[in-house]
Amino acid sequence: MPGMTDVSLEKPLLAALAGRGSNKAGRVPFWFMRQAGRYLPEYRELRAKAGGFLNMVYDPAMAKEVTMQPLRRFGMDAAILFSDILVVPHALGRDVRFEEGEGPKLTPVKPDTIPFFNEAFFDRTAAPVYEAVAEIAYALPAEGFGRAALIGFAGAPWTVACYMAEGGGSRDFLAAKRWAAQDPESFGALIDSVTAATVHYLEKQVAAGAEALQIFDSWAGVLDENMFRRWVITPAREIAQRLKYSCPGVPLIGFPRGAGILYRDYAQAAGVSALGLDWQVPPKWAAGALQSLLPVQGNLDPALLLTGGDALTLAAENILGNLSGGPFVFNLGHGIIKETPPENVETLCALLRDWRQ
Ligand code: CP3
Repeated sequence: MPGMTDVSLEKPLLAALAGRGSNKAGRVPFWFMRQAGRYLPEYRELRAKAGGFLNMVYDPAMAKEVTMQPLRRFGMDAAILFSDILVVPHALGRDVRFEEGEGPKLTPVKPDTIPFFNEAFFDRTAAPVYEAVAEIAYALPAEGFGRAALIGFAGAPWTVACYMAEGGGSRDFLAAKRWAAQDPESFGALIDSVTAATVHYLEKQVAAGAEALQIFDSWAGVLDENMFRRWVITPAREIAQRLKYSCPGVPLIGFPRGAGILYRDYAQAAGVSALGLDWQVPPKWAAGALQSLLPVQGNLDPALLLTGGDALTLAAENILGNLSGGPFVFNLGHGIIKETPPENVETLCALLRDWRQ
């Protein structure tokens, strides 16, 4: 219609995810995985008051507050909902505990205790998360961050199933791999249940105001080629196809951490709108092999953000030099490490704001 413009594409992050190269000013949109969290003193302060991680996650006002903390300091191009990938197993009725300094603990799921997805039951637990999304959507323009996009997220089914089968974190997720290899039918039932819950959960985040989505497949890298296709690519494709119908125009970023050379297969077959790259992917290779297929996001090693100095500057400039010519979102290759000095984050943000292609 004459005179009408798509306002959402004025948000730099959404423009990049829609496949637009960097804008005339040459600025690259950026945000950081785990940008809200323990490296920020204001997070630690609120966390101490809240008394528990899940209390924060299920308190919409606190979740909103923590989501906004990094934007107030650094003005990223996106706010990512403060929550956790383990909300999905929790809302499926599994017990999930976060013990200080120990990471998450769950009662392991067995083939005869696979939870099934029921919408009304799920939302009894997850509803405060949708409420948090709505509060953040309101707070962004109200606090002067009208150009920042709101990202919703979930774990990808493989990674969520890993924690469910294992009962917590693990170096190699052998319990999940073994179950998937030995009894793919019942493991497939677990994946299907998580997939159904995840689609619903993401749809509800979009209905509440999320403008872009990311699925975190943090443990995609432990699988061989065949298992990667079956447990990483296939569920991602299911999620992407269903969201294309229910949430048209909302970009979905897939982050199959550790996929290596299989990033290309994922890019071609998963049906996601953009690719989150881990830090081992060479930026120059990604420019030719991946960015020619889809917009890319990444991929500074968080250890270099922790280190700071020349190591940080050189690595960031290498990424920008190779990837800022096409559709690109600057990010880390995994989450911010909790010992990272906030000053280093400020240094990186200044470099990114000053960067001209
Ligand atoms: O990125 C953001 O700022 C949004 C919030 C966010 C959290 N977790 C908050 C969190 C996101 C996107 C996640 C995703 C998540 N959670 C993943 C995928 C990404 C990744 O890191 O690989 C995974 C595997 C989890 C599961 C999880 N949650 C673990 C293993 C742990 C314990 C280890 C750790 O890093 O603390 C958590 C806890 C967690 N999730 C914290 C935060 C801020 C720390 C909780 C605390 O305050 O003690």
